[in-house]
Amino acid sequence: MKRLGILLSGRGSNFLAIADAIDRGRITNAEISIVISNRAEAAGIAAANTRGLATRVIEARGRKRAEQDAEIVACLREHGVALVCLAGYMRLLSPEFVAAYPQAILNIHPSLLPAFPGLDAQLQALRYGVAITGCTVHFVDEQLDHGVIVLQRAVPVLEGDDEAALSARILEQEHVAYPEAISRVLSGNYTIVDRRYVANTSHNATLIEEAQ
Ligand code: GRF
Repeated sequence: MKRLGILLSGRGSNFLAIADAIDRGRITNAEISIVISNRAEAAGIAAANTRGLATRVIEARGRKRAEQDAEIVACLREHGVALVCLAGYMRLLSPEFVAAYPQAILNIHPSLLPAFPGLDAQLQALRYGVAITGCTVHFVDEQLDHGVIVLQRAVPVLEGDDEAALSARILEQEHVAYPEAISRVLSGNYTIVDRRYVANTSHNATLIEEAQ
């Protein structure tokens, strides 16, 4: 059983999509062992408590990032976490945190990276006038919204869209993309070539060969 640790700061809808995917067997052989928030008032923490999951609030206020992150890493280790999933976690991770979980921290971002990194990605896309945007699940490295891309889903920008409408359309796809990406990563059936995520097809190829 692979143990997931979720980090969030707010609403927690991606966390709930992951939890539902585990409950429904779309992500197999995994459990959420801890949900951590840097904000006590995060709705996602209340939702995690309601679901009977272990939760921890590790405040950032008035503390150095490295100190806060060391506490988070200790908490993740305490809970035997193998894969960390950032789900609307609004803090940059320290290099020490990233180094503690090499290629084992995922994030979801509401644009097709490398377009529109950072805050308000949906609004950035609207203002830029793109016809297609979407969401990206990627490994976390030391740079903001930058690591190896695991998967992306495209979303059209429609006439008359405002930020709320576009964000809602992207969010629907986020809830599909994140569980799918977690499932792929947990399978271990991939290789990272340079900065590309490459699915290993040898298994499928064998099955196809056997069928012939
Ligand atoms: C999502 O749009 C996600 O892509 C971004 O932060 C938002 C979090 O939403 N990183 P929620 O808390 O999961 O509902």
